[in-house]
Formats: sequence, structure tokens, C-alpha cells
Amino acid sequence: MKIGILTSGGDCPGLNAVIRGFAKYVYNNIPKAEIIGISDGYGGLINGEAKPLKESDFSGILNVGGTILGTSRQPFKQMTVEDQNGESRLDMMKKNYKKLGLDLLVTLGGAGTHKTAGLLSENGLNVIGIPKTIDNDIYGTDVTFGFHTAVDIATECIDRIHTTAASHGRTMLIEIMGNKVGWLTLYSGIAGGADIILIPEIPYDPEEVVKTVKHRIEKGKAFNIIAIAEGAMSKEESKMKKQERLEKRGGDATATNSLARYIAQEADVETRVVVPGHLQRGGNPSPYDRLLSTEMGSFAGKLAKDGMYGTTVAMENNAITYNRLSAIAGRMKFVPEDHQMIEVARSIGITFGDGKKFKEIR
Ligand code: F6P
Repeated sequence: MKIGILTSGGDCPGLNAVIRGFAKYVYNNIPKAEIIGISDGYGGLINGEAKPLKESDFSGILNVGGTILGTSRQPFKQMTVEDQNGESRLDMMKKNYKKLGLDLLVTLGGAGTHKTAGLLSENGLNVIGIPKTIDNDIYGTDVTFGFHTAVDIATECIDRIHTTAASHGRTMLIEIMGNKVGWLTLYSGIAGGADIILIPEIPYDPEEVVKTVKHRIEKGKAFNIIAIAEGAMSKEESKMKKQERLEKRGGDATATNSLARYIAQEADVETRVVVPGHLQRGGNPSPYDRLLSTEMGSFAGKLAKDGMYGTTVAMENNAITYNRLSAIAGRMKFVPEDHQMIEVARSIGITFGDGKKFKEIR
């Protein structure tokens, strides 16, 4: 059995641990299996850049961040666009899959990667996905590998910001990754003791944010910690098109700077913005993510052995399982407004800038 493996989209702690878990399962349980490493995500499959890997290539990478295969972003909507020769990227990937003699393609990636994996599967390729992303936004799995390491890093950032916030009596806005979803901001915000958490799923009212800041000051708290997701937006912005939002924010892709200026002006406080950015995706996976990655990687090996193609690995209620690619591709897992951790946050006085008060529902 000849298996191609690739990592696609943004890198993420745990990619190498998954690759290793998969390879070790394969070498131990599938006789005569061969693994071909495809370079730089779908880009490598499009251009036919791949090389056979040896068992020793998978050693010593359990705790190493990034991906030994390299990665790239390949927008889904361009996959079926034909070039001047009438050939699309999808055609090229199908051609190279055949040329490499693959029996199976294993794709490690996020929501976009899964969309393309679904497309390849619909087009007759044998594909197995494994859900990666610090955003934790893949539909059908409770957790993705990389998420918890990013929660650890973002929480540490918030912890460290606390000391400056308290010493200087400032309002600090920490912009956490998550363009479309707020899982990382919600979890690290609670774990880091944020006073205000702003996520894309709950558009905020800037006046409410200012009210909370002022209220804390009146209560004698001189500083404020605001965990704000990259994709957070005000109620007004949530009704706008992307371009209009960009103009309103003076060219900034995120709302953080303009909100910081607004708070400084309206609440008469000193504000600072901190953007940990790609630090949240960098470095070694935590022990939790090494375990999850090893479990997901080895389970993908089992799916390969059993010929369970057109699937992706998932974790549901702490049990490892799989979903059909066709059932999850193109769907995202947003933070539900009534999620348990939103309720927990509200119950201890954290606000989401929407003016809603905690109501006991359990
Ligand atoms: O999807 C993971 C993610 O880290 C998002 O949280 C973030 O918005 C995006 O990738 C950043 O992408 P890039 O590395 O291309 O700047």
C-alpha cells in the first residue's frame, strides 16, 4: 500500500506528532506499506513534489513544532479554476496521485484543507483527513490537535500582561488568533482571568465595553484585561461587508486598535494593544496535544488499514471516531451562544460586550 501524506494550511503544534503516530501505526500494522511525503501541502500534490520517506524519518519528531513536510495555503475556490491549458489544480492533483501510484492520501489540516479533501474524495481519490487547527473550528470533532497548546500559550500571554496592566493601571487588549471563531479567545480568556472577552460569535456594543471598564474602575480596579479575537466585531460592523469594515477601521484588518482608541477616549483610561500572533502556533506541542496527536495519528492508520476512505478522524465525548468527509467538509464549528463556558464566564462576571447578564439555566 502506497500512502501519500501532506500537511496543509497554517502550521500548528502537533503536526509532527500526528505524522509520527500515523507512520508508526502503519509500519507496525500494515505489511509492505510505503509512505510518500508530499511537500508544502496541496501545493506539492499540484506540482508533483513528493519523496518516499523512511521509517527513521519519523523518529525524534514527537515534540517538535511545525511540520517536517512543509505547508502552504491553497484557497479552495481556486481548486477548480482552469488555467490557459484548460487544466485545474484538481486535475493536476488527480494526475499526480496517479503518477505517484498512491492508494491513499492522508491530509492533516483545518477547515479549508477538509473542503479540498472532500473534493478529492468526491472525485474518486482515497482520502483520510485528520483535524488540525489552533482555532478548534472543525465541524464534527470536539477538539482539534494544536488547540490546547495554543490555549496554554495564549493564557501565558494574558498572565504576563496582567502584571503590566496592574502595575500601570492600564486597560490592555490582547488580540488572540481566530478569524472566524472564538474558541481560543474564550478558553484562554477564562484561563487567563480576562475581564472582558470579545469573540466573533457575539458581536459587541463598544458602549457596553466602555461601561464595563468604567464600572470596574468605580469598584476600585484600576486595570482591565480584554481578550479580543482577531475576528471579533461590533454589532454595527457585523452588518457590514468586509471592505466596508476595513475602511471603518482605518485599514486595520481587526477591530482591536480602533476599539482601544475608543475605550481610551470614552473611559479616559490608558490602553495598550498586544498581539501575540504566530507565537500562538509556534513551538512544541503540550503533553496533552502529544497524546491527542498520537491517538488521532494512529487511528488514521487504523482507518487506512480498514480501507475506511472518504473519512476524517474525530473526537466525540472523549472517544476517538471518524466522520464522513462529505458530512463535515465546508461546515464550521462555532461557539454556541449558550455554550457551557460562556455561561461559566458570565456567571463569574466576565462580560462579552453584549450587555447580557448572567441567567441561571442549569
Ligand atoms: O487558522 C489558524 C490561524 O492561525 C488563524 O487563527 C489565523 O487567523 C490565521 O491562521 C493566520 O494565518 P496566516 O499564518 O496565514 O497569517
